Parts: sequence; C-alpha cells; structure tokens
Amino acid sequence: MTKLNWGMIGGGEGSQIGPAHRLGAQADGLFNLAAGALDHRPEEGRAYAQRLGIAADRAYGDWTEMLAGEKDRQDKIDLVTIATPNATHFEIAKAFLEAGFNVLCEKPMTMTVEEGEEIVRVANKTGKICAVNYCYSAYPMVRQARAMVRNGEIGKVRLVVTNFSHGHHGDATDADNPRVRWRYDPKMAGVSGQFADCGIHALHMASFVCDDEVEKLSADFASTIPSRELEDDAMVNFRMASGTVGRLWTSSVAIGRQHGFDIQVFGETGGLRWASEQPNQLIYTPVGGRTQIIEKGEAGLHEDAQRLSRVSIAHPEGFPLAVANIYCDLADAIAGETRNGLPTAEDGVRSMAAVHTAVASAQNKGAWLDARPPMFR
Ligand code: NAI
Repeated sequence: MTKLNWGMIGGGEGSQIGPAHRLGAQADGLFNLAAGALDHRPEEGRAYAQRLGIAADRAYGDWTEMLAGEKDRQDKIDLVTIATPNATHFEIAKAFLEAGFNVLCEKPMTMTVEEGEEIVRVANKTGKICAVNYCYSAYPMVRQARAMVRNGEIGKVRLVVTNFSHGHHGDATDADNPRVRWRYDPKMAGVSGQFADCGIHALHMASFVCDDEVEKLSADFASTIPSRELEDDAMVNFRMASGTVGRLWTSSVAIGRQHGFDIQVFGETGGLRWASEQPNQLIYTPVGGRTQIIEKGEAGLHEDAQRLSRVSIAHPEGFPLAVANIYCDLADAIAGETRNGLPTAEDGVRSMAAVHTAVASAQNKGAWLDARPPMFR
C-alpha cells in the first residue's frame, strides 16, 4: 500500500497534543508527514517542520500559505490534522474541506453550534471526511463495550454514568499560569471551560458506548476558584434518545484524581465498567452473576476490539511507546550522548547466562548456581 501524504496545522514544538498525532499517524507507516504549518510563530514553525523531515518548500509559515501551496500539487496531502487552539478550528477546517482536503480536527471542533453545523454541511457537500479526535473511543476495550451493548449482552441500557474529572487545575495560586488561564477565559475558550475541554469526551463516550444520542440535558456549572469566569466543575444529567438516563461529572479541581476518565453502563441484564487509567480491562457483571475481567487481546473478543488489539494480551497499549523510547535513546547514543539505561549487549549476555543457569538449576533439583556470565565474575 502506498503511504498517504499527511499535513499538520499546529502541534508545534512543545505542544501538548502534537507528539501524539505524529506518533499515531506514523505508527503503522500509513501516513508520511509531508507538509506542516506547525506553530503560530511562522519561523519557529518552518524550522521545526524541517527538523521533523518536512521538505523546505512544504514547511509553511501559516495555514493560508499551506492551503495555497498544497491545493494544486500532484502529490498534495491526503489528510490534514488541525491541532491548533480551539478558536481557530472552524476557519481552518472549513477552508481545507472546501478546497477538497480530508480533515482530522481536534476537539472541540468549533466554538459555536452554527459553526459546527456549517462544517457538517461543507463536509457533506464536498464529500470529504471531517473526523474529530475523540481518541478514547478507539481503545480496544471501549470498542468491546460498544459491541457488547449493540449485541444485547447487557440488555437494554438503563443508566450510563461517566466522569472526566482531574485535579490538575486545582491549585488556586496557579490560576495565572498562562497554560491554565486561557482555558477559563471566555475570549480564548468560548462559552465553557471544563465541560468543553473534558466533559465532551465523556459525553461522546456515553453516546459511543451506548450507541445512542443525547437528547436533552440539565447542567449545574460551578467556578470553584472564584477568579475563573468559566466553570471548572460541572454536573450534567442527560437523557438519551432511547430513554437511557445519563449522569456526567467533569472537574479540573478534583485533586487526587489524575486522568479521571471512566464510564459505567448499567443494562437490564448486566453492567460494564471501563477506566482510561486501566484501559486494557473491561469489567463485566452479568445480572446475578460474578464480576469478570475481559482483557484486551484475549480470545473471543468482538471483531472491532480484536482488530484494534494491536499489542498482544497482557502487554499494555503503551508498549509500543516504550519501544519508541528505546529508539530515542539509540538516536542520542548514535549522536554521541550517553544514555544510562539503554539496554546493551551486556544485558543481553546476562540474560543468556541466567537462562542457561536456570535450566541447569532446574535439572539439578533447584540448586543455587552462579548466574553471572563468566566474563563478569
Ligand atoms: P498547545 O497550546 O500545547 O499547542 C498548540 C500548538 O498550536 C502550538 O504549537 C502553537 O504554536 C500552534 N498554533 C497556535 N495557533 C496556530 C495557528 N494559527 N497556526 C498554526 N499553529 C498554531 O495546545 P494543545 O493542548 O496541544 O491543544 C491543541 C488542540 O488539541 C486543542 O483544540 C485541544 O482542545 C486539543 N486537545 C485534544 C486532546 C484530545 O484528547 N483529543 C488532548 C489535548 C488537546
């Protein structure tokens, strides 16, 4: 299969989400990072793009330049990812869709409902893809939960409870930190703080797993740090089209909760529970039965969960990133930088000595034997 050409807007050096997109898009060799306007500072963006391997003529200063440069190329990008701050998403997404590009947009997709509807209309009209990065829905065990619900394995869903509550903006003395402040400033963040930032992930998750849509809701917002103009805590009750009762709590002042994203689905014949901090396990309890742990990668998963269990059973999904870290340390080592901890041939030979010693010991009624390679004795 030929690699698809891929471009990024935003996600520059030091950004939070940029590295996740680069790792994700390139992990399977499906996308080649061919173009980018990566930073709000044109020169920094151009320089960083070239350090990432983008050709100089496709390392753009801003997105308008990128659109003009890409649209008539033979080898133009097949997909553009928009990973800029929220207020810019609409304008960029609309322009790229209208010019015939497929788009992956970060959440929240737009600042207003009108803008959101306009994006849906433009995508429909142009026939181009506009995806939104609700990435948690792509965990294998979230797919398993959805498939179980769809398959009737917990019966009709009565109740869904979901939380995305962390404590990382819980320090009032941090309220002036520039990375925190914009999130509670209506000019930068729009009409909502925590709900638009994290709550929508939880709400999407509820719809996704229940395979249902939110029809109505009732919300209680609070700015628990009084200087904040937007909410840092919200409790939202909702009802889904099928009548399912929904409860959602999202907070950024829940000190002690780390990522804090979880979902529980309660049906007529069973319940399911998944948490992003233990993403490889789906907890399932049939009515009147014992609680079971369904593991990513195990036999008998639904097809979608099986397909996305790219790391074998018992290995966490973060496993490929640990391998990526080995490559990082190797690149540094090749450049002459010492990296303590990079496993080397010495570790290799110690393992071999241990294997052979263990075999010898097992054959010798568990005798205590020297496990070191002769060269290290
Ligand atoms: P950030 O502030 O860490 O990085 C933003 C990057 O965009 C910077 O490199 C900046 O120079 C660049 N930038 C800003 N304006 C630009 C412009 N007009 N043109 C080109 N580049 C521009 O922000 P972060 O946290 O990476 O968030 C970016 C987006 O990703 C937000 O919409 C946020 O809501 C979303 N996000 C989504 C997550 C998810 O789980 N799906 C997680 C974290 C962020």
